[in-house]
Amino acid sequence: MDKIRGVVLAGGLGGRLLPVTKVTNKHLLPVLDQPMIFYPLRAMLNAGIDEILIVTGGQHAGDFLQLLGNGREFGIKHLQYTYQQGEGGIAEALSLAEDFAEGGKICVILGDNIIEKNICGAAKAFLEQPKGAKILLKEVPDPERFGVAVTEGDRVVNIIEKPKDPPSNLAVIGIYFYDARVFDIIRPLKPSDRGELEITDVNNAYLRDCTLTYDVLDGWWTDAGTFESLFRASGLVHEGGANHVD
Ligand code: G1P
Repeated sequence: MDKIRGVVLAGGLGGRLLPVTKVTNKHLLPVLDQPMIFYPLRAMLNAGIDEILIVTGGQHAGDFLQLLGNGREFGIKHLQYTYQQGEGGIAEALSLAEDFAEGGKICVILGDNIIEKNICGAAKAFLEQPKGAKILLKEVPDPERFGVAVTEGDRVVNIIEKPKDPPSNLAVIGIYFYDARVFDIIRPLKPSDRGELEITDVNNAYLRDCTLTYDVLDGWWTDAGTFESLFRASGLVHEGGANHVD
């Protein structure tokens, strides 16, 4: 059977968490009792994704090696690292995974995304999907902070990055599945107003192509890239744990 390889994006300068990110990478900060990156790694392993590339950046990139080594202790079969120069955005970070993907399907998780349950069902469905991409959505009270999806039945008809006036409360969470065409889609992208290659532009390209599917995630989801969400993430994990497999 086909395999999905995993890409965890753990770069960026963590500007929304200054001054702590002056001395460490955002994804190494504790969420309750674990370094943040353990949660997306666990989400991948739970779904049977055990060949993983970590894309990191900034001044503290070496700390990931110290924490995870070759990944074996954590249950990772094959762990690779690469380095993103500067802050070119999620899609630019992902472009560094082209060789690692070797033409196969990938699951991409933003290193600050934490989930209560698992992505086993989504990963299985994506393995069976002949081509294209799959995104995961979740209802949130503050959609203006995220990419927001407009759906019609089982189709996504538009995704808008951080809309001032959100057309729905369905956030596009930072867990994405792509086929190998994603790298061809990223190549011609131009930076957005915030100077980044946007993952929302990638997802909209698949949408125009009618090969984008979506699931609504079961259980809670949070990011942890601001002090407020980092605090909320620790609280949610404290209340009932994360990454449950049923
Ligand atoms: C990014 C994406 C956004 C997505 C969010 C999920 O936002 O651009 O579409 O909803 O991650 O965490 P950023 O954290 O770069 O502001």
